[in-house]
Amino acid sequence: MSKLHKSEGDINISRHREKWQKDHIDAESRSLLDEDALYFLKQSLSTPCLNTLRACEGIYIEDMQGRRYMDFHGNNVHQVGFANPDVINAIKNQLDELPFCTRRYTNRVAVELAKKLADIAPGNLNKSLFCPGGAEAVGMAVKLARVATGRHKTISMWDSFHGATLDTISIGGEAIFRQDMGPLLPGAEHVPPPDEYRCVFGCASRGGCDLVCADYVEYILEKEGDIAAVISEPIRSTPYIPKSEYWQKIRRACDRHGALLIFDEIPHSLGRTGKMFTLENFGIIPDILVIGKGLGGGVFPLAAMIANEALDVAADRAMGHYTHEKSPVGCAAALATIKYIENNHLVAHARELGQHALDRLKKMQAHLPLIGDVRGLGLFLGIELVKDNQTRERASEEAEAVMYAALSKGVSFKLTMGNIITLTPPLTITREEMDIALDIVEQCIAEVEAS
Ligand SMILES: Cc1ncc(COP(=O)(O)O)c(C=O)c1O
Repeated sequence: MSKLHKSEGDINISRHREKWQKDHIDAESRSLLDEDALYFLKQSLSTPCLNTLRACEGIYIEDMQGRRYMDFHGNNVHQVGFANPDVINAIKNQLDELPFCTRRYTNRVAVELAKKLADIAPGNLNKSLFCPGGAEAVGMAVKLARVATGRHKTISMWDSFHGATLDTISIGGEAIFRQDMGPLLPGAEHVPPPDEYRCVFGCASRGGCDLVCADYVEYILEKEGDIAAVISEPIRSTPYIPKSEYWQKIRRACDRHGALLIFDEIPHSLGRTGKMFTLENFGIIPDILVIGKGLGGGVFPLAAMIANEALDVAADRAMGHYTHEKSPVGCAAALATIKYIENNHLVAHARELGQHALDRLKKMQAHLPLIGDVRGLGLFLGIELVKDNQTRERASEEAEAVMYAALSKGVSFKLTMGNIITLTPPLTITREEMDIALDIVEQCIAEVEAS
């Protein structure tokens, strides 16, 4: 690929990375990294890798050289912290009892998980299908929308990510996944995301968000007349946090035009945004909800499509014929995860600590001109770095420099769109740990700004 796309994650070939490795990687780690590059196909966003890990526990990951980093990235699987003892014990016990469930059979723990999800999900989101990964769950949701509506077109967002399979990159809106991939799914139409800071409709120049982007979704629903579903992350990982009215308008528009609304909450469901489900921040209920990542407790790959029970209309089709569909081990991990979140009040903790963190980010913004915008909901936070607050030119080089400086001081996070620092720590993080991490981030931004 001739051009390095700045999108979902940070770029894995850069001079900042090279320099960091030169300063931090010893011979043993270097040799494992070289072997990794020898046996894994290279791909952007992963191989070649930055470093090697030997342990992860709580909010920390530990590299082979014994350095520990607070993990504000964690692929968003770590709501309950890494190696959570309740999750690990549930998995160990389940391995002894029933490690796999052959097709044609069900098992107690899978049924318990489906029931638990129906209990905690709002409205009539009462019927699930499970699968190993998020992209597969999104694929099932699109298939169900096709079957239920008899239509095939979708509306989704530019810049969005729904997984790396061919169907999900068609719906997704990032060039790093789509470009030069050949024909994508027909009928996958795209709209600009509700990004107030960089609104393509120029809402800032009209004195703030006036929801033209939501009207545009309805415009397409009406023009086309045969859209099966609007599918979106309720909050993009950048993070863009739309007004509640945005989703309320789109919910009403979907109803008017016979389209389903599918929410992909894979990275932030189960507490991260200060609500058990992200949709609860917006006062609407989609027809289909997709969750994943942390559902497996940061150990087991597990995702779920949770649908309105009225959409139980595809009994004669194979929607999600996945080998590990009703994995007893995965379901045991998920039940332990949800119980841990509930018993330890992690949803309220994410809400309160997230507000504290956002307040601190706002204070940083007031004295650090490199910070163009700060955003967040619960423990889903972003700091957008810009070269100039008027032009809002992305400060991507600077963001990379901040990321590697923070890594050297023990805080790991990812960049998105090249210039946005995203902070998604485990929900188990304490206020003291959060303050230590934010002190480091602030110090690193100040250092890069001064250099
Ligand atoms: C919003 C969103 N949807 C879907 C996916 C895909 O999930 P998986 O990697 O489990 O296929 C991701 C993963 O990052 C995601 O963030």
